[in-house]
Amino acid sequence: MGKRTLILAFESSCDETSVAVIENGAIILSNVVATQIKSHQRFGGVVPEVASRHHIEQVTWCLNAAMQEAHVTYDDLTAVAVTYGPGLVGALLVGVAAAKAVAFAHHLPLIPVNHMAGHIYAARFVGEIKFPALALLVSGGHTELVWLKEEGSFVIIGDTRDDAAGEAYDKVGRVLGVAYPAGKELDAMAHRGRDTFNFPRAMLQEDNLDFSFSGLKSAFINAVHHADQVGEQLSRDDLAASFQQAVVDILVTKTTRALRQYPTTRQLILAGGVAANTGLRSQLTDAMRAFPRVELLQAPLKLCGDNAAMIGAAGTMLYRHGVRAGLDLNADPSLEFPYLDEIEK
Ligand code: KG4
Ligand code: ZN
Repeated sequence: MGKRTLILAFESSCDETSVAVIENGAIILSNVVATQIKSHQRFGGVVPEVASRHHIEQVTWCLNAAMQEAHVTYDDLTAVAVTYGPGLVGALLVGVAAAKAVAFAHHLPLIPVNHMAGHIYAARFVGEIKFPALALLVSGGHTELVWLKEEGSFVIIGDTRDDAAGEAYDKVGRVLGVAYPAGKELDAMAHRGRDTFNFPRAMLQEDNLDFSFSGLKSAFINAVHHADQVGEQLSRDDLAASFQQAVVDILVTKTTRALRQYPTTRQLILAGGVAANTGLRSQLTDAMRAFPRVELLQAPLKLCGDNAAMIGAAGTMLYRHGVRAGLDLNADPSLEFPYLDEIEK
């Protein structure tokens, strides 16, 4: 048996400080996540300075906890992986600095990981990724379709023109007085309600793979405000169900269109915070019956939100491809995969 690859991974791009130890890219020895949600809730969103301060306070504790829980020493480690973008610059910098310090002190290679590649590789804990693959990435900051022609290659073939799906959930949740982040609770409300509002599904007829959620968000807010003005009581559950059904219809329609445009796809990967949505998971599973040759790989529920295990899985793949960063690695808050038209040029 070959030597095992042990990756220590850091994630601090938004409001979760997380450190994990991953064996051979597929086994979680530890995955410690310290969430700051409570500190940001009263502001209705993530406050960057507050996030940064919490990361500084938490990162050493998370590191020690992850090493202990994994029962490994620094001598056992193969490399250190870290999210260097996209995200909040002050938040990213804490993880990057911590990872660099460990890499320097213990003479370990440093692997730079794109947070979005991390989300996709959360699915690696369910099974091998088979190429070519298509990923539907839905989170608080991103909603995109990513084409993975081969291992290590990520190209955006569809993107949101305005809000990300998770962002839309959080904004309409705020109107209903649901605490940030609102996705999970709206999902539960949606299950108790019915789609009675028939909100607009933007850009479904357009022959592209892009998304738009701002019209839906406005229609939702207008409906609530109008009812407030005329003193009408709307069913919150029906509002949530109608909103969710519109989001899911948009996501599933564009994803199946992409599968038809990319007929060599062997696997569809669903990942990102919104991938935890039960309506999306079940409707996408149903839609996949029309694509019997495509395997659906859904990120595990527990690994849909931000965590370092997914960064360790993507980091292991990059390590095997020889990707390394120097100790001058910097945070890149607006890091993105390349777009298809940039590649074609
Ligand atoms: O990937 P993530 O943890 O952080 C980012 O990288 O953005 O995604 C967080 C987003 C939030 O907008 C949250 O409301 C949404 O994921 N979310 C959900 C659900 N669980 C979390 N949205 C819909 N349904 C859910 N069950
Ligand atoms: Zn994320």
